[in-house]
Amino acid sequence: MPRGLFWRAFLIMLIPLILVQATVVYIFFERHWDTVSNQLALDVSGDVLSIMRMSEGVTDPAERARIDEIAQREMQFGVVFEDGAVLPDEAPRQSSGISYEMLRRQLDQRIGAPYHLDSTLPDKGMTIRVERADGVLTLLTTTRRMRESTTVLPFLWMAGMAILVTTIAVMFLRNQVRPIRRLAAAADALGKGRPVTDLKPSGASEVRLAGAAFLEMQGRIQRQIAQRTEMLAGVSHDLRTPLTRVRLQLAMLADAHPASRAEIGESEQDLQLMEHMIDEYMAFARGQGGEAPVSTDLAEIIDDVTADARDKGSPITLEVERPLVMALRPNAIRRCLTNLVENAVHHGAQVAISAVRRDDVVSVAIEDDGPGIPEDQREEVFKPFFRLDDARNPRTGGAGLGLAIARDVARGHGGDIRMSGGSLGGLRAELRLPV
Ligand SMILES: Nc1ncnc2c1ncn2[C@@H]1O[C@H](COP(=O)(O)OP(=O)(O)OP(=O)(O)O)[C@@H](O)[C@H]1O
Ligand SMILES: [Mg+2]
Repeated sequence: MPRGLFWRAFLIMLIPLILVQATVVYIFFERHWDTVSNQLALDVSGDVLSIMRMSEGVTDPAERARIDEIAQREMQFGVVFEDGAVLPDEAPRQSSGISYEMLRRQLDQRIGAPYHLDSTLPDKGMTIRVERADGVLTLLTTTRRMRESTTVLPFLWMAGMAILVTTIAVMFLRNQVRPIRRLAAAADALGKGRPVTDLKPSGASEVRLAGAAFLEMQGRIQRQIAQRTEMLAGVSHDLRTPLTRVRLQLAMLADAHPASRAEIGESEQDLQLMEHMIDEYMAFARGQGGEAPVSTDLAEIIDDVTADARDKGSPITLEVERPLVMALRPNAIRRCLTNLVENAVHHGAQVAISAVRRDDVVSVAIEDDGPGIPEDQREEVFKPFFRLDDARNPRTGGAGLGLAIARDVARGHGGDIRMSGGSLGGLRAELRLPV
C-alpha cells in the first residue's frame, strides 16, 4: 500500500473499477465469444455441407463451374474438384483457438467423411478438403469467415472509459489532497516558530474544520506566549526601580557606616546578581516577544558571538559552514548562542565552535575542555536557577538562567539543545535548528 493519501485514495477508487470491468469483460465476452464462435462455425460448416450436397456426383465441367460460381458469389467459397485424388496421410497445420475448435467439431459431426482443415495459409487463406469416393473436393475461403470484427470495439470503449474516469479522479483527488498538504506545512512552520498568516481553510468539510481548528490553536498559542512575555517584561521592568533605589540607599549607608562596609558590599553583590537576572529576563522577553523570524545567515551570528567572546580574551577555534541562511529571530538566537559560549568560556580554557548543515537540520556544536556535566545532570541544568556546583558561590557565577533561556529560544525555533561529552574533554552543547 502506498503511503501518500493521494495514491491510497486513487487505488481505493481504481481497484474496484478494474475488478468490476474485468468481471464484466470476462463474463460477457466468454459467453459472447462462445455464441459468436459457435454461430460462425455453424455458418461455415453449413456452407461446406451445402456445396458438398450440390456437387455430389456432378462430373460435367460446365455444371462444376456453375457450382463454383454460385459458391463464390453466395458463400465466398472457391470450389476445386480433384477427381481420383486422396488426402495425404499427414494433416496440415491448424490455427488454434476456440472458433477453430468449434468448426472442427461441427465438421466432424456434419460431414461424415475424412477432411483436412488448413487455416494457416498465406494471406489469411483457409482450405477445407473433403475426401469422397470420386476424389477430393477442395473448398477455398479466408479465415475472415471465422472472425467477428466488432469484438475489439467494446474493449476500446471500456479502455476509453477507464482512462476518462481515471483522469477525472486524478484531478479531483489532487484538489482534495492539496489542502491537507498545506495544513501540514502550516503546522510544520508553526512548530519552527514561523507563524502562518496565509492559511485559508479549504477543501472537504473535515479538512476545512481541521484548518480552522489549526488557526484557532495558533491564535491561542500566540496569545499565550505574548501574555507570558509581557508579564515577564513587566515584572522585570517594575523590579528595576526599587532595586536602583536600594542600591542608592546601600551606597549612602556605606558612607555613613564605614565599619559595616563588608556586609554592605555583600548585599551590593546580591543586588548585582538580581540586576543581572532581570537583564537576562528582559533581553529574553524582548527577543521572544516582538521579534519576527527573518531570513538570516546563522554563520554571521556565530561570527559575532565568537568575536565578542574573543574580545574578552578567550581563545576560540571556529569551523563553520557558510552560508547557513534560514528563517530565524536573530536577537533571540544571538542570545541563545551567547549563553552557550559564555558557559563554555566560563568553564573551560579552550573552546571550539563548529556548525554544519545536514539535510534539513543545522547543527551548531560548542565544545570546551572544562569539567563537563555528569550524565545524570545534563537535563537538570536546563531548569531555571539550576546551578551545578553547590560550592560555587552564586555571587561569582550567573543566575542559572542561561541554559533555560537558550533552550527556550531553540525550541521556539522548532529545534533543541542537547548536552554530551565533547572531544576536548569537557562539555559539548549542540544546538539543532530545522531549516
Ligand atoms: N560548559 C559547561 N561546563 C560545565 N558546566 C556547565 C557548562 N555550562 C553550564 N554548566 C553548568 O550548568 C549550570 C547552568 O548553566 P546556566 O548557563 O543555565 O547558568 P549559569 O551559567 O550558572 O548562569 P547564567 O548563564 O544565567 O549567568 C551552570 O551553573 C553550570 O554548573
Ligand atoms: Mg550560563
